Amino acid sequence: PRDLYGPKRRNSRGVELGHRDSLDALMAEIRAQRRDVLASSLVDGAPRGGAARPVLSPADARTAVGDVAEADASLAVEAIEAARRGFRAWERTPAHDRADALLRASVALEDRRGLLLDLLQREAGKTLDDAVAELREAVDFLRYYAAQARELFGEGEALPGPTGEDNRLLHRGRGVFVCISPWNFPLAIFLGQVSAALAAGNAVVAKPAEQTPLIAFEAVKALHESGVPSSALQLVLGDGAVGAALVGAPGVAGVAFTGSTETARRINQTLAGKDGPIVPLIAETGGINAMIVDATALPEQVADDVVTSAFRSAGQRCSALRLLCVQEDVADRMIEMIAGAAAELKLGDPTAIDVHVGPVIDAEAKERLDAHVARLRRDAITRYAGDAPAQGYFVAPHIFELSAPAELKEEIFGPVLHVVRWKANELDGVLDAIEASGYGLTLGVHSRIDTTVARVLSRLDVGNCYVNRNMIGAVVGTQPFGGSGLSGTGPKAGGPNYLKRFALEQTVTVNT
Ligand code: NAD
Ligand code: ALA
Repeated sequence: PRDLYGPKRRNSRGVELGHRDSLDALMAEIRAQRRDVLASSLVDGAPRGGAARPVLSPADARTAVGDVAEADASLAVEAIEAARRGFRAWERTPAHDRADALLRASVALEDRRGLLLDLLQREAGKTLDDAVAELREAVDFLRYYAAQARELFGEGEALPGPTGEDNRLLHRGRGVFVCISPWNFPLAIFLGQVSAALAAGNAVVAKPAEQTPLIAFEAVKALHESGVPSSALQLVLGDGAVGAALVGAPGVAGVAFTGSTETARRINQTLAGKDGPIVPLIAETGGINAMIVDATALPEQVADDVVTSAFRSAGQRCSALRLLCVQEDVADRMIEMIAGAAAELKLGDPTAIDVHVGPVIDAEAKERLDAHVARLRRDAITRYAGDAPAQGYFVAPHIFELSAPAELKEEIFGPVLHVVRWKANELDGVLDAIEASGYGLTLGVHSRIDTTVARVLSRLDVGNCYVNRNMIGAVVGTQPFGGSGLSGTGPKAGGPNYLKRFALEQTVTVNT
């Protein structure tokens, strides 16, 4: 499979959903590969876990998508020990062989795309276009990190030195990496972390989110079948307590975490309190992402980009727009256009191809969002309120106008957009308020004045900035993704520096 990387490496092509024949073929594959999945932890490849519970669809909690047998804390410790035994053999496997296994897995994912897309839709509530995009991203992560591993982990980099001496900088696996991932990208983020850690020569214990174990289980099976030894990749299914047990277990050499800022803090505290070596944490967390729109912006484009950024994926992207800051002169017109565009969105069963917005992930998320909406209906100006289906965990898109940016104090992880307006002399105050939130994940700017764009970008430490376009859907290798401050530690996923943080550096000097 080596033509899938190297100078020829290209991101995967996805599916043209607007083309009738390719859509029909895809739907047929989804129907053909659909099955109930029984997921369990996998320790040295053996299924493990307690009594199985059904995994219910967020679009209709009366429907089970499969079953999962979950782990407890003792299995977590066992999995770390098993990974420790598997580490050296994998670390000594030449980097190009490790890369080849990842490439084979990328092909295996495409071969079973019907099953994976079905699970993304029914287990995670993704619309078909979101599911297709996520599968592409997962495939691209595998190929990108495979290509990076070949570059970084081969012979090492020869360094200059005196005659008679060979100096080399090598990169090597660190040991056992615990990879903990969220439910909102249950395939792409799960596999992004796992493949990076494996590519760098680590053994991995992967713990996906408790809401989406089935997809993770199928992804791990694809990696095992593609040549990643089951000793080098252990799967532990369970909730946050199981994640905490993994982080706290002896023998962990690194943790890659994507999820909420609050959980990242907890993990950081646990790691800081551990005896033994200092354990690095790579954390990618949340954001209160803002978009600045001035009076020169193109209204139709703004409306389209705002609706995409705030409401697609039911607002359940860490990159999603939460706070729209519009210049006073155009605010009413812009908000009306955005509300009009939001009203065109169809909510419903994500397996229907004409649906734009699916459910939120579970009852708890719906309760939290419903409470936020109810509070803002009282305390803010309602500029748009959509309708949601009664069955399933649906939350309709809402737009609320606040009087100041600081009124939005926390990340609201769903389809709720908050708007503030600013006068020409107040832009710096708006930027100060965004900065004061402490987050720095994504930022949008809509303006046709270059100096305004430059001024906004230079004032804020935000990881991913989008100018005159929407602010979601970062592409592997093209828009390396990740933030700073409360939004994460870096390095960026899908970027050239990611693998290095999973590795030890070793300098070898030989007197020749
Ligand atoms: P979460 O923090 O609740 O859970 C994430 C993972 O951590 C899950 O696997 C969970 O079981 C585990 N976990 C929970 N408590 C733990 C503990 N004490 N120790 C170890 N593991 C623990 O987050 P979520 O609700 O699943 O995901 C949504 C959040 O993720 C949002 O804040 C979103 O912004 C963020 N996110 C960030 C990125 C990014 O790249 N920056 C990408 C996607 C999601
Ligand atoms: N990487 C995802 C995006 O850019 C979260 O939307």
